[in-house]
Amino acid sequence: MMPHDFMPGLAGIPAAKSAVSDVDGERGVLEYRGIRVEELCKRSSYLETAYLLLFGHLPTRAALSRWVEDVAHHRRLKYSIIDLMKCLPEQGHPMDALQAAVAALGMFYPGRNVEDMENNYWSAVRLIAKLPTIVAGWARLRRGDDAIPPRDELGFSENFFYMLTEKTPHPLWVDIFDDCMILHAEHTMNASTFTGLVTASTLADPYTVVASSIGALKGPLHGGANEEVVQMLREIGTPDRAGAYVDEHMRTKQKLMGFGHRIYKVKDPRATILQSLCGSLFKTCGTSQLYDIALAVERKATDFLKEKKVHPNVDFYSGIIYDKMGIDTDLFTPIFAMARVAGWLAHWLEQLRENKLFRPDQIYAGEHDRPYVPLDQR
Ligand SMILES: CC(C)(COP(=O)(O)OP(=O)(O)OC[C@H]1O[C@@H](n2cnc3c(N)ncnc32)[C@H](O)[C@@H]1OP(=O)(O)O)[C@@H](O)C(=O)NCCC(=O)NCCS
Repeated sequence: MMPHDFMPGLAGIPAAKSAVSDVDGERGVLEYRGIRVEELCKRSSYLETAYLLLFGHLPTRAALSRWVEDVAHHRRLKYSIIDLMKCLPEQGHPMDALQAAVAALGMFYPGRNVEDMENNYWSAVRLIAKLPTIVAGWARLRRGDDAIPPRDELGFSENFFYMLTEKTPHPLWVDIFDDCMILHAEHTMNASTFTGLVTASTLADPYTVVASSIGALKGPLHGGANEEVVQMLREIGTPDRAGAYVDEHMRTKQKLMGFGHRIYKVKDPRATILQSLCGSLFKTCGTSQLYDIALAVERKATDFLKEKKVHPNVDFYSGIIYDKMGIDTDLFTPIFAMARVAGWLAHWLEQLRENKLFRPDQIYAGEHDRPYVPLDQR
């Protein structure tokens, strides 16, 4: 590549060497540390997968139980963080509340020396442990309810539901939600991971790194798409209206949310797994009209978009699952962040090993040597 080549969006330009995950966009394969996500969904748990991502290998039984225990013991939030959230406007977006609370965590757990690996371990534990408490806490505080403290004896996903609803859910829901967490835990050099790496390369603390990533995840071209998909399906209303909706979008060249991906040229493997999780979920609680609409949209959109290799992505079916579980639509992206923090932190640790400050170049497209025109002559 010549130094002056410019690729908008850095498409196809490697920003790092990484062993965390890999996508084969032609075959639709996603691996975390070399293990396919299908295998992890079948046999692993979110916390075990997070360990795999962070440390590069599956834990032994003893290491897993220490890891699970460490995370369980760090779920609580300091009163000041809860008080901080109480001061935020209740109509604000939960991603903003999450970003503010995560950034504030860094003030309570200083340890700014990122060369201290022991401290880095505990930072990773705290972030993975506390994000669900913040998300569930904010969901309740904004309605005027008290935040529910975590219960150490509950697993990661079960505890999240408990903090959100004060009930422990059906075990099948816990398994399905845990699979959703696995599927969202990591995805190579995406926008939020890259954002985190840029921040990490300045040797900022991990709370700041994760707060930056949360900001990037919020946008509708990235994690925010899951929320928009459900809004789109609600707007369509019934499956028989899907055809006209897609036609109109194609005619006016508008993008369909939950479709398309920079890397995948076939259907996103996560969308395929999520679709089968929808099937399992509906066995316990009946089908969902949104799912029927989604199928109709996918059928119709495929006619238009398969030539361009645009297919459903991870965000197309995930929201349908969360919606059926009674979770508020605007919590979908924060839930994505709860899972993706494992991937962000895995890349952060990798970056620290051979850090180089990100400082890309630009192609200057402006003028030179312009005269300064005094104010009264403009
Ligand atoms: C994810 C996304 C930003 C990737 O974009 P990209 O790699 O920059 O690809 P482009 O936007 O250049 O799209 C390439 C072509 O496919 C079309 N396309 C891409 N995604 C599309 C979508 N969701 N709906 C309709 N057409 C789409 C584009 O219009 C473009 O067509 P053209 O070549 O005729 O102009 C894009 O697919 C998108 O905006 N999707 C919707 C948001 C979304 O679901 N995001 C979550 C991603 S996991």
